Amino acid sequence: MFDKISIILFSTLLASLGKVNALTHYPPSKTANTDLEQVLKGTGAPGNYWSSTTPDEEYGSYNCTFDPTSLTMWPVLNMPHVRKTEYQVPDKEYELQYVEVIQRHHKRTPYASNTFFKEDITWDCSREGPYHHAKNENPENTSGVVWQRQTGSQNPFEATVGPGFVGSTCEFPSITSEGIDDAMIHGRDIRGVYGDLLGFLPKSHEKDKYAFRVTSNVITSQTLGGFGKGLYPDLEEHTGLIQDDSYDSLKPGVPCDLRDTINSQITDLSGEWGKHLNLTSELRERFNNVSGIEPDDTAGWKTSWDHPYDNLSAKQCHGKPLPCSTNNTAICIQQEDANTIYRLGNYEYAYRWRMHENSTYYSAITMGAWFVELQDHFKGKMDGTNPIKYFHNFAHDGSVAPVLGLLQHDEPVWPGMGSEVVFELYRKAEEYFVRVLFSGQPLKSSTPFGVMDMVPWEDFEEYLKDTIPEDLTELCIASNE
Ligand SMILES: *[C@@H]1O[C@H](CO)[C@@H](O)[C@H](O)[C@H]1NC(C)=O
Ligand SMILES: *[C@@H]1O[C@H](CO)[C@@H](O)[C@H](O)[C@H]1NC(C)=O
Ligand SMILES: *[C@@H]1O[C@H](CO)[C@@H](O)[C@H](O)[C@H]1NC(C)=O
Ligand SMILES: *[C@@H]1O[C@H](CO)[C@@H](O)[C@H](O)[C@H]1NC(C)=O
Ligand SMILES: *[C@@H]1O[C@H](CO)[C@@H](O)[C@H](O)[C@H]1NC(C)=O
Ligand SMILES: *[C@@H]1O[C@H](CO)[C@@H](O)[C@H](O)[C@H]1NC(C)=O
Ligand SMILES: *[C@@H]1O[C@H](CO)[C@@H](O)[C@H](O)[C@H]1NC(C)=O
Repeated sequence: MFDKISIILFSTLLASLGKVNALTHYPPSKTANTDLEQVLKGTGAPGNYWSSTTPDEEYGSYNCTFDPTSLTMWPVLNMPHVRKTEYQVPDKEYELQYVEVIQRHHKRTPYASNTFFKEDITWDCSREGPYHHAKNENPENTSGVVWQRQTGSQNPFEATVGPGFVGSTCEFPSITSEGIDDAMIHGRDIRGVYGDLLGFLPKSHEKDKYAFRVTSNVITSQTLGGFGKGLYPDLEEHTGLIQDDSYDSLKPGVPCDLRDTINSQITDLSGEWGKHLNLTSELRERFNNVSGIEPDDTAGWKTSWDHPYDNLSAKQCHGKPLPCSTNNTAICIQQEDANTIYRLGNYEYAYRWRMHENSTYYSAITMGAWFVELQDHFKGKMDGTNPIKYFHNFAHDGSVAPVLGLLQHDEPVWPGMGSEVVFELYRKAEEYFVRVLFSGQPLKSSTPFGVMDMVPWEDFEEYLKDTIPEDLTELCIASNE
């Protein structure tokens, strides 16, 4: 049913290295997120942007028969994850060996870069905030330190810079208290499945059997803070493994001209990307009239709908009103326009990571290194060198989207807050199998894997081999020269 487009990527660079990467891009299904006509002419928001609570009957409906043309209940503030109530326990002959989870952080304030220069609302963090302290050998000698943004000072420069949240006491970005609650429930639900239900989760004191990984962005540690309490309520402290930003595979940002080149192919203004922007120029003007963003802005407000999306959704997700112009309070963003911006945001994610013919390659260049690590964790389980049973990565939408992109998710969405992908390794007799869960249910891929429920390990490994360039580092390093 899928148009199979075989892409053989012969870039001059690859040719010059004498290496060729061959992979197959399987386009996603037609859904309300992938069909530009429906995105532009549709109504309503592509999900629930108002509440973190999903009724149980809808939570359970994120299965393969879930109707992707009706995404109105998708809980983007707190995406579904594995829970005891919906978890599909495999047949007894499959024995669970290893679990690795990657998730997006939970609900947060906006990023400073997505804030208008002057905001008409405030964010209050007077009862919460990020810890910043160093621990020495004797924990009794250290006390925790919480940062709180100082505003309203007499510093004459304060009034000259953004972010313009007058009187806000939050660091931007940071996980809000509601986001920390969501993270804690997420941890408790994971314990419900892998602890209570399956008896697989290591005990809290078996520290060599589980690991957490974070990025240098504080919001991932803040999410671990809540999650860790839910997973292991008896522990006061957790270790977050972290790689240096210069090569971190979890928050992929290693300089790589090749990746940037593919990105510019994808966001080419004379192609499909330019088309959706041109078709929405009036909406852009209405948005700019409220935000005060200049039409010639170069900070990324006009080359995609990402910033407006984040700007508006962060507010609505925390029950705050849509913004009005600070010059004329009668000119405000209307809900209908906000909904269209949410649909456009989902379309852009679907296009970038799944629809463009080079999106799979782009995903592989972006998250390939992380998959190499994942593969190594699996192999270590099979040959007995990996003592870890449970590994949890706290990451970003920019990490989860290419994970789903590489696996060629059939019904792409912008991964909402707390979006989770679980990789389970099973053994049946002498054979190993991989099951991938997204939003708590087996992931539907557009590849011949179909639903990724008990994929033979060899097939999974073969797919990664075909998809991730073997010479990943060489490709990026050579392209930077
Ligand atoms: C799967 O989703 C469909 C459509 O929402 C729903 O009718 C059905 O009950 C769900 N099945 C399970 C097992 O959750
Ligand atoms: C949204 O963008 C406007 C316009 O630049 C900015 O003033 C505001 O701070 C942003 N708000 C959020 C929540 O990002
Ligand atoms: C730090 O804590 C240890 C253990 O409680 C204690 O022995 C030591 O004296 C403390 N250091 C200082 C400088 O008080
Ligand atoms: C995909 O990448 C190849 C190799 O760089 C390039 O020739 C081709 O134009 C790209 N496709 C699109 C649609 O940009
Ligand atoms: C969109 O408009 C810009 C500016 O007018 C133009 O350069 C670009 O080619 C247009 N893109 C498409 C796909 O029509
Ligand atoms: C934006 O504001 C300008 C100046 O007030 C007005 O002329 C224009 O019609 C507005 N644009 C839209 C799309 O509302
Ligand atoms: C408000 O007016 C100032 C001065 O005319 C202008 O620079 C700014 O962009 C306007 N802001 C909005 C949100 O229209």
